[in-house]
Amino acid sequence: MAQIIPVDVFDIVVFGGTGDLAMRKLMPSLYLRDRDAQIPAESRIFGVSRSDLSSADYAARLRDGLERHLDQADWDDDVWQRFSARISHVKLDATKSDGWDGLVEGLEGGEERARVFYLATSPDLFGPICRNLKAAGVVTPQARVVLEKPIGRDLESACRINDEVGTVFNEDQIFRIDHYLGKETVQNLMALRFANSLFEPLWTSASIDHIQITVAEKIGVEGRGGYYDRSGALRDMVQNHLLQLLCLVAMEPPVRLDKDSVRDEKLKVLQALRPIAGGDVSAKTVSGQYRSGAVDGHPVPAYLEELSAEADGTAADSTTETFVVIKAEIENWRWAGVPFYLRTGKRLPKRSSEIIIQFRPVPHSIFEAGAGQVEPNRLVIRLQPDEGVTLSLMTKDPGPGGLRLRSAPLNLSFAETFKVRYPDAYERLLMDVVRGNPTLFMRRDEVEAAWSWVEPILEGWQNNSERPKAYTSGTWGPSAAIALIERDGRTWHDDAE
Ligand code: BG6
Repeated sequence: MAQIIPVDVFDIVVFGGTGDLAMRKLMPSLYLRDRDAQIPAESRIFGVSRSDLSSADYAARLRDGLERHLDQADWDDDVWQRFSARISHVKLDATKSDGWDGLVEGLEGGEERARVFYLATSPDLFGPICRNLKAAGVVTPQARVVLEKPIGRDLESACRINDEVGTVFNEDQIFRIDHYLGKETVQNLMALRFANSLFEPLWTSASIDHIQITVAEKIGVEGRGGYYDRSGALRDMVQNHLLQLLCLVAMEPPVRLDKDSVRDEKLKVLQALRPIAGGDVSAKTVSGQYRSGAVDGHPVPAYLEELSAEADGTAADSTTETFVVIKAEIENWRWAGVPFYLRTGKRLPKRSSEIIIQFRPVPHSIFEAGAGQVEPNRLVIRLQPDEGVTLSLMTKDPGPGGLRLRSAPLNLSFAETFKVRYPDAYERLLMDVVRGNPTLFMRRDEVEAAWSWVEPILEGWQNNSERPKAYTSGTWGPSAAIALIERDGRTWHDDAE
């Protein structure tokens, strides 16, 4: 049974309070935690922005955002009354050292509470905001800071930001969020691997041929072109979400499920990734950019058209990638010789995040040629949507006519089995911050190790000065992405379906 574990009274201050993340994710998540009676009565929520808004104006904006982003069934007027009473708006230019009195006054009386500063802003503001928080005297021993990804745009800027934030907060007070770690199905990876004795003995190069990790999206840049065009799929998705998934699949069993045991094991995986640099970049990676096409039968514009629409029609030119494939390899005893094919992109045919564990074929077939192929087993871990796990098994095709083989799925659908609502990742992670539990957040060394691996790929793309390959929206990316895996005699899971 799902349990609501109470948290102590807290104050949360969201910088970027009128931004997309606050409206789409943070405030809806806090509202839902309030609806489930997890937020103590006196807790307060402050939205910080440069806009000239009264708290009532801000609450009205939030209401609008909540109505847009919550399921209708989750809306409740009584909860809204309670929730809106906690809300205040603070007008502040957080990059300036003056003008902090409103926030200081607002926080008065909460010195003993957990105090969460959520920086839903561009990463170059993380350092200045932290310095100003300190100067304003609001960083109490109970304070903690949440940093949204991406932390920087390369290793050097990530280290600088980590240093700047580190002069104000201790590592234990810094929560670097990767919302994929808060997804129920991502946490379930640990249950699948370490609460079942079945898989672990097979979880090595002796039994596994290769692993595919795909995070496919149907959406385009959704009005976030300004941010996205400076990032691209490698920085926006691979450096964090896909590498975190890879770590959870590949790490050694941690001794305990605590913050350092888990993060130590993830770090070892990142450190064991074979560098992709120089000539390897074009052999082991593919980048793409979507052109117009159709998704779900609806025509959609090209990436460049979306960018120019956001720039009021000014023609855009950009070499930012909206699609990436990487053949990653982990140099350790468990995984030597097992490629991990990573793939992510926007405007693909379906929204689907999956991990495919492709087992090796049987060493010798006892069946006659007419029985059909003995297909190797495949474990499909569906992270979203249709969350669940499918193991493909070879079976006898029923009925007379000789022994014919057929692959059949053993399917566990979480929706059918558990019939519960899956909370949004941010609901879980926000409450973890309040509790002070950083297990599902990235430690400084992890973030830096991830950048160290990603950076030579970015450099390689720059040096080759090759544009990302065009792909039609609604397809699985450029043909080079298919060629990359087929050169190894393998196919993408969706192509095999
Ligand atoms: C975010 C990226 O971190 O993750 C977005 O910035 C992306 O570009 C999103 O769309 C995907 O998250 P989810 O939870 O919808 O898979």
